[in-house]
Amino acid sequence: MSLLTIDQLEVRYGPIYGTHSVSLTLDAGETVALVGSNGAGKSSTLKAIMGIAPVARGTITLDGKSLLGVRPADVVRRGLGYSPEGRRVFGQLSVRENLEVGGIIIDKASMRQRMEQMFGYFPRLRERASQRAGSLSGGEQQMLAIGRALMSRPRVFLLDEPSLGLAPIVVERIGEIIAEVQKAEGLAVILAEQNAVWALAIAHRAVILELGHIAVQGSAEAMRADPQVQRAFLGLE
Ligand SMILES: Nc1ncnc2c1ncn2[C@@H]1O[C@H](COP(=O)(O)OP(=O)(O)OP(=O)(O)O)[C@@H](O)[C@H]1O
Ligand SMILES: [Mg+2]
Repeated sequence: MSLLTIDQLEVRYGPIYGTHSVSLTLDAGETVALVGSNGAGKSSTLKAIMGIAPVARGTITLDGKSLLGVRPADVVRRGLGYSPEGRRVFGQLSVRENLEVGGIIIDKASMRQRMEQMFGYFPRLRERASQRAGSLSGGEQQMLAIGRALMSRPRVFLLDEPSLGLAPIVVERIGEIIAEVQKAEGLAVILAEQNAVWALAIAHRAVILELGHIAVQGSAEAMRADPQVQRAFLGLE
C-alpha cells in the first residue's frame, strides 16, 4: 500500500475547476514531481491534501485512512508538512520564531533539538536566527519556508514551487538540500514545479498536469528521455 494515495481528485472553487481528475500515489522515501504550466492544478492538488482547498470528488488517503474533512492542523499531526507557493514566511517574525511556528505541535525539548537539525541543514538560517524573516533574500526565505514545514517532522513533504523567482545557483542549492533532507529523514516528497527540467532532475517519478488532468506520468528517467515530453513540456528540441 502506498503512503499517500490520491484518486480522481476534483477540486472546485464554486464554478471554477482547480483540478478535474488527478490520481497519484506516493511511497515512503520517494520524490514525485508534479509539473505543469500556470493553472494546471498543481497548487490545488497540494492544498486539497492539506485540507485547504475544496474537494468536490475523489479520495485522498494517508496510510489507508481518509484525509478528507480533516482540519489542516490535524493533517500536520498525521505527518504532512507543507511549504506553500510564494513561501509565505512571517515577515515580521524572526527566523527562529518562524521555525517555532512550524514546530507548534511538538514539545519544547524536541523543538530545540529539531531547530538545531534545521540549522544543520540550513547554516544561513542559524547565522540569521534573530533577524526578521522579511529582511532575508528570496533564497533564504525559501529555505526558511522549507525549514518551517520540516519542524513538525513530517513523513510526507509537500513543496510548492520552491524555484519561483530564484537565481539558478540558488535553485541548484535548494535541490541539493531537498535531496539531503530526503535521504537523512526518509521523507516522501511531492515537488510541484513549473520548472520541469529541474524537478525531473531531482524526482524519482513525475506526473505532468495539463488543465487539471494528468497528461503523462512515469519514471523521471523515462520522461527525460521521451522526445515528446522533451518537446511539449521540457522546452527542449
Ligand atoms: N482560490 C481560488 N479561487 C478560484 N479559482 C482558483 C483558486 N485557486 C486556484 N484557482 C484556479 O484553479 C485552477 C488551478 O490553479 P492552481 O493554482 O492549482 O494551478 P497551478 O498549477 O498551481 O498554477 P501555477 O503554476 O500558476 O501556480 C486555475 O484555473 C486557477 O485560476
Ligand atoms: Mg501553483
